[in-house]
Amino acid sequence: MSSGSDGGGGAAVAARSDKGSRGEDGFVPSALGTRKHWDAVYERELQTFREYGDTGEIWFGEESMNRLIRWMQKHKIPLDASVLDIGTGNGVFLVELAKFGFSNITGIDYSPSAIQLSGSIIEKEGLSNIKLKVEDFLNLSTQLSGFHICIDKGTFDAISLNPDNAIEKRKQYVKSLSRVLKVKGFFLITSCNWTKEELLNEFSEGFELFEELPTPKFSFGGRSGNSVAALVFQKM
Ligand SMILES: C[S@@+](CC[C@H](N)C(=O)[O-])C[C@H]1O[C@@H](n2cnc3c(N)ncnc32)[C@H](O)[C@@H]1O
Repeated sequence: MSSGSDGGGGAAVAARSDKGSRGEDGFVPSALGTRKHWDAVYERELQTFREYGDTGEIWFGEESMNRLIRWMQKHKIPLDASVLDIGTGNGVFLVELAKFGFSNITGIDYSPSAIQLSGSIIEKEGLSNIKLKVEDFLNLSTQLSGFHICIDKGTFDAISLNPDNAIEKRKQYVKSLSRVLKVKGFFLITSCNWTKEELLNEFSEGFELFEELPTPKFSFGGRSGNSVAALVFQKM
């Protein structure tokens, strides 16, 4: 998993080729899959935001947000469609959606510091109609449901690295997604730990590929491919 530029994916490679012992799925469990890690990250970023006004990392870079908004535009997703950002982090994508005119948007994250940071950023931007909630997507405590659009940028990647039974957690993720998304609703996922084919397999039950979004290609040593996969699924 990598932040910053879209061409990233270095850490994803590390997650699979590290010398540590691999799980059954080929991933090396990592701190990136734990709440402790993200709490520490966002406590630090919250402090930095308070001191310097720096909003922190945008995972997969600006282009990853533009790509999703372009898709929503192209498919004429109504501005009042309900949108859920799963694992919103600093909430910068929520800010972009609100600036674009979306009026029914919710961000959840299991890290209270992430939600505090996104709340502070949203307040500084003068935006008031964004809902934020501390929620573990794998153990949803409230009746979050009926969303037209669910977005995941790096959260399924993080969950896949959990040292404690990641396979089960991925299955729970798909169940939670089924619960919160409306039938015919769209799920937009950006990942650097999973290829298109692997994601198709992960979300094969109850979801169908609607569209693959173009991402930068790499070419190295006679091989080429995409370092980031961005897919749109539709709930059946
Ligand atoms: C790689 S970061 C991506 C943050 C944000 N989506 C972005 O694009 O900048 C992964 C995020 O997922 C959150 N996260 C991981 N597991 C989660 C879970 N089970 N429930 C809710 N949030 C989770 C982390 O706290 C972190 O904010």
